[in-house]
Amino acid sequence: MTDESESSAGREILRVHDLRKTFPGVVALDGVDFDLRPGEVHVLLGENGAGKSTLIKALSGAHRPDSGRIVVDGAETEIRSAQDAQRLGIATIYQEFNLVPELTVAENLFLGRQPRKFGLIDKRRMEREARELLERAGVDAEPGQRMGDLGIARSQMVEIAKALGQDARVLIMDEPTAVLTTGEVDRLFEIVRRLRERGVAIVFITHHLEEIPRIGDRVTVLRDGRSVGEVPAGTPEDELVRLMVGRSIEQQYPRERSEAGAALLQVRGLGRDGAFADVSFEVRAGEVVGLAGLVGAGRTEVARAIFGADRYDGGEVLVEGRRLRSGDVHAALEAGVGLVPEDRKGQGLVLEADVGENLGLVTLGRASHGGFVDRSGQRGAAADIAGKLNVRMSGLRQEVATLSGGNQQKIVIGKWLLADAKVLILDEPTRGIDVGAKVEIYQLINTLTASGHAVLMISSDLPEVLGMSDRVLVMARGRLAGELSADEATQDSVMALAVSEAKGGTAAVEGS
Ligand SMILES: Nc1ncnc2c1ncn2[C@@H]1O[C@H](COP(=O)(O)OP(=O)(O)OP(=O)(O)O)[C@@H](O)[C@H]1O
Ligand SMILES: [Mg+2]
Repeated sequence: MTDESESSAGREILRVHDLRKTFPGVVALDGVDFDLRPGEVHVLLGENGAGKSTLIKALSGAHRPDSGRIVVDGAETEIRSAQDAQRLGIATIYQEFNLVPELTVAENLFLGRQPRKFGLIDKRRMEREARELLERAGVDAEPGQRMGDLGIARSQMVEIAKALGQDARVLIMDEPTAVLTTGEVDRLFEIVRRLRERGVAIVFITHHLEEIPRIGDRVTVLRDGRSVGEVPAGTPEDELVRLMVGRSIEQQYPRERSEAGAALLQVRGLGRDGAFADVSFEVRAGEVVGLAGLVGAGRTEVARAIFGADRYDGGEVLVEGRRLRSGDVHAALEAGVGLVPEDRKGQGLVLEADVGENLGLVTLGRASHGGFVDRSGQRGAAADIAGKLNVRMSGLRQEVATLSGGNQQKIVIGKWLLADAKVLILDEPTRGIDVGAKVEIYQLINTLTASGHAVLMISSDLPEVLGMSDRVLVMARGRLAGELSADEATQDSVMALAVSEAKGGTAAVEGS
């Protein structure tokens, strides 16, 4: 008879024993145990800052653990570099991309391992192989395209294609679906299933609990740097949440309606050639208005035009009855408009600055206008908002670049909450945020509207739009396709509008 533990040990490709890693002021991993088998999708679940990314960085050679053991194919191993990981067959798709925006897609795919001919890079072969990889991963991009022009969703797909090109035995994916659309997620899952069938072992990190039964086999839950449980992927969501945050969450969408007051934001006939046309709506004091639609419908473009980050060339934007000039961010700020952008790295944060400085960015600009900055008051307010959002950090002096992904997103939101913007536009505000912290953010939105602020919320997370909006506007191909009251808005009614004009109708993009 074979020994049970031995036979299961034989099936593992990788095992981690009591792994520990500290950073100045932070214990990121506090004794993690984890094992991985060929042909499984092992989900890593945990709150923002629980240690998920740190764990996978230890497996991919990006971080050296302080102590603990990593065993690959039954032999204890040290993974000191990306090359070590690659030699062991471990490929990683990081949460924060490693792509070089200035290079082409093909150059990114083969970075550091370009095919060579007579010592020179074999461009033709590189392009051909790049095309094959892109096709395998179902990425809609050309090998010769500049990486920086692709947008986040397609960049993520290129990351995936790049990992496929390494023929890994272990594929680690850190929140690959955070920036993908529904269709892209489906395509990604097909790829993942194919790899699993070929015996590849996959580590999969996500904050979207509904994805777990669809794609996972087992789940390891991390809390405060420790593994607190290993359960099957079919475990009910509320049980997963309880393991993850240590308590159950009563209400995922705690919207408290306030009385709607005067129109704070009025948008009339707004348009820009090739992007959007004839967009008219208003948001009143005390309201949360959801802006739904498919990716590419023009929601972000409209938000940026209202904020003055981009120009509009037709129509007008009024805040409290005063017209805002096209393309004038300063005027928008003065008028009390705030924008939490969808791309936090590019537009929302100064990565080299600390948490306190980032939280004070908007208020500082405004306060110094009068020639007077109340720095200690500002630190106090920053500490307060960081506490409310439960930001996991060593203190206000921690550099933002070293915060976990979800905690960085909390800083972007906190910055605008501190700025006390009268009209706050949120573009995908809870991307990468764990289920518990989402509720905290929703509660802060309630506080804002209760005190007479207006919120416009763009989100591709339909349950979030439905759960938190008092009204829902739906955009399709650059135009408003319709408006639904909170009662009328359902998954089906929103989707029906979102695809309605996308098929027929005249689209702004076609320049009618
Ligand atoms: N280079 C670093 N310097 C200092 N602290 C760090 C560094 N890298 C990570 N940390 C800290 O380690 C902790 C764990 O971070 P990690 O990125 O592993 O979290 P996570 O589980 O991936 O969270 P998220 O869901 O937000 O991505 C956090 O408190 C983070 O601030
Ligand atoms: Mg992370």
